[in-house]
Amino acid sequence: MAVSETRTDSEVHTARLLPGGPVAEAVLADVTARVATLRRAGVVPSLATILVGDDSASAGYIRMKQQRAADLGFASPHIHLPGTAGQAELFRAIREFNEDPQLHAVLVQHPTPAHLDYPAAVLAIDPAKDVDGLHPESLGRLAAGLPGPVPCTPAGIEALLAFHEIPVAGRDVVVLGRGTTLGRPLSLLLSQKRPTADAAVTVLHSGVPGWERHTRRADVVVAAVGVPGIVRPEHLRPGAVAIGGGVRYQGRRLLPDLDESCGSVAGAITPRVGGVGPTTVAMLFRNAVELAERQSAASTGDLEHLDR
Ligand SMILES: NC(=O)c1ccc[n+]([C@@H]2O[C@H](COP(=O)([O-])OP(=O)(O)OC[C@H]3O[C@@H](n4cnc5c(N)ncnc54)[C@H](OP(=O)(O)O)[C@@H]3O)[C@@H](O)[C@H]2O)c1
Repeated sequence: MAVSETRTDSEVHTARLLPGGPVAEAVLADVTARVATLRRAGVVPSLATILVGDDSASAGYIRMKQQRAADLGFASPHIHLPGTAGQAELFRAIREFNEDPQLHAVLVQHPTPAHLDYPAAVLAIDPAKDVDGLHPESLGRLAAGLPGPVPCTPAGIEALLAFHEIPVAGRDVVVLGRGTTLGRPLSLLLSQKRPTADAAVTVLHSGVPGWERHTRRADVVVAAVGVPGIVRPEHLRPGAVAIGGGVRYQGRRLLPDLDESCGSVAGAITPRVGGVGPTTVAMLFRNAVELAERQSAASTGDLEHLDR
């Protein structure tokens, strides 16, 4: 078992590490099998991407997603708009993908340049092709407990906890952050009535002064903020599980919400690199294959698939 060792004055604490790589591998093995089934039925699943501008980190993410798509057997058409593109051009690109019946999933790489309205772009994506699960219809489905694409990072965190056999059912899970991509949908997901969820979820944010009184009693703490080092050892109950979802980039350097020394108190913790990130990417492709299945089922009238 992988452990994180942190030496204090008196003793060595070891937190079990919770890598995301094996979780992603398991998810992607399932995706590969489902892609093969679709292809045998004559359907080539696809993930269409739109990048605006030349931010090197975003361009790198898009390259990685396209490479992964190709490896997994997805078609991955791409539109690259200049950084000067206006909202109308972005809408046109989204519409082009929305209206193409061969395309199953559409992604607008975040962040878009500051002059563009990213939430409006998400709203313009056909909900049937909403691979990030961030369209209000997808979030509404999540809130209502209906099937639909689930935002990738929350889905990845649930999968990571399940894979590493960390039960959350009936336990106190504290999510620090209520953002739309992570904290809010994760709180909805983990409070659903399912064996890998069913948790007593508390959501914290900047409107809760002294939030550490909640994290200190939690069985599982998920940091979903984007403020480097905001969660420190003294915010955790000894033996608690600490999941680092929030990150900020300083150039290419990744600065996580979980202070490095959290491993001295936590019973289990995601590693600084290779924790939640790989599961997020895997869930993107799980959403993509699911959208392709649903659309091909819709076009063939295979209602059994539509009910999944
Ligand atoms: N690992 C991955 O693959 C992945 C994927 C997606 C997102 N992320 C990361 O996850 C983080 C959250 O993403 P998001 O889009 O949900 O972010 P967001 O919309 O900016 O939400 C951040 C949340 O943190 C809260 N917050 C900020 N400062 C705080 C403080 N000092 N004390 C308590 N709460 C505080 C905010 O509270 P208010 O609501 O009161 O403002 C807000 O609810 C970001 O770092 C993002 O980069 C990671």
